[in-house]
Amino acid sequence: MKTELLEADLLAQIDLERLPQHIAIIMDGNGRWARKRRLPRIAGHRAGIRAVRQAVEACARLGVPYLTLYAFSAENWKRPQTEIKLLMALLREYLRKEIGELNRQNIRLSVIGRIADLPKPVRADLQTALEKTSRNTGTRLTLALNYGARAEVVDAVRALAEELRHDGTIQIDEATLSRYLYTHDVPDPDLLIRTSGELRLSNFLLWQVAYSEIWVTDTLWPDFTQNDLFQAIRDFQKRERRYGGLGLG
Ligand code: FPP
Repeated sequence: MKTELLEADLLAQIDLERLPQHIAIIMDGNGRWARKRRLPRIAGHRAGIRAVRQAVEACARLGVPYLTLYAFSAENWKRPQTEIKLLMALLREYLRKEIGELNRQNIRLSVIGRIADLPKPVRADLQTALEKTSRNTGTRLTLALNYGARAEVVDAVRALAEELRHDGTIQIDEATLSRYLYTHDVPDPDLLIRTSGELRLSNFLLWQVAYSEIWVTDTLWPDFTQNDLFQAIRDFQKRERRYGGLGLG
């Protein structure tokens, strides 16, 4: 089917009243995409930016309130120095070049992860992009950078312990712990997408995806298009979410 036809067909199947409020994506397969073309891995990451634009634009068009992208994990520091350097350079390039487009689409950028440990120039570009998009009221695009879910829980528990030293009356329950996570002001993802066919969570939002619907595609991240995102939403809307109950009412 022609791309435009497929798009119209998919959009017609999506109920805009029941959109997932938060979509989180594990963008995987850049390396394999490059290898298939006998290109260096970084060419896969560069092509991955095209797919980032596709996912962001699709969410903005539909009015999905929150999109979170796993852009650099705490474990990614184990990769070769050259790849890390180039990934950071690509990220800076994206942050600099994309501000205009993010503003045009009314997208507010935010970030989660151990940001203080990122290289200083990256932090500076991040700061600028965060400030320049801070007044936008549309989709909130969160980049997970130097992010690890276990580290996030550790950071939350440390902050909570610190708070407890000052105020011994704090109740420790699920709601309290949630308030200390990086994602305290974002609802839990309704839909978690992973590309390139791997069936793993890879230390991404472990606490928050407790009841997320998981959608995996064999498509490698650089080949991901708006239609893939529309398909994921259509499939999501066919699922019955039960949250541990019987789902009868
Ligand atoms: C996984 O592919 C992808 C990453 C580790 C990085 C994701 C980065 C981008 C899409 C580009 C920069 C992002 C932004 C937001 C500007 P992989 O290298 O693990 O692929 P493989 O499993 O096939 O080797």
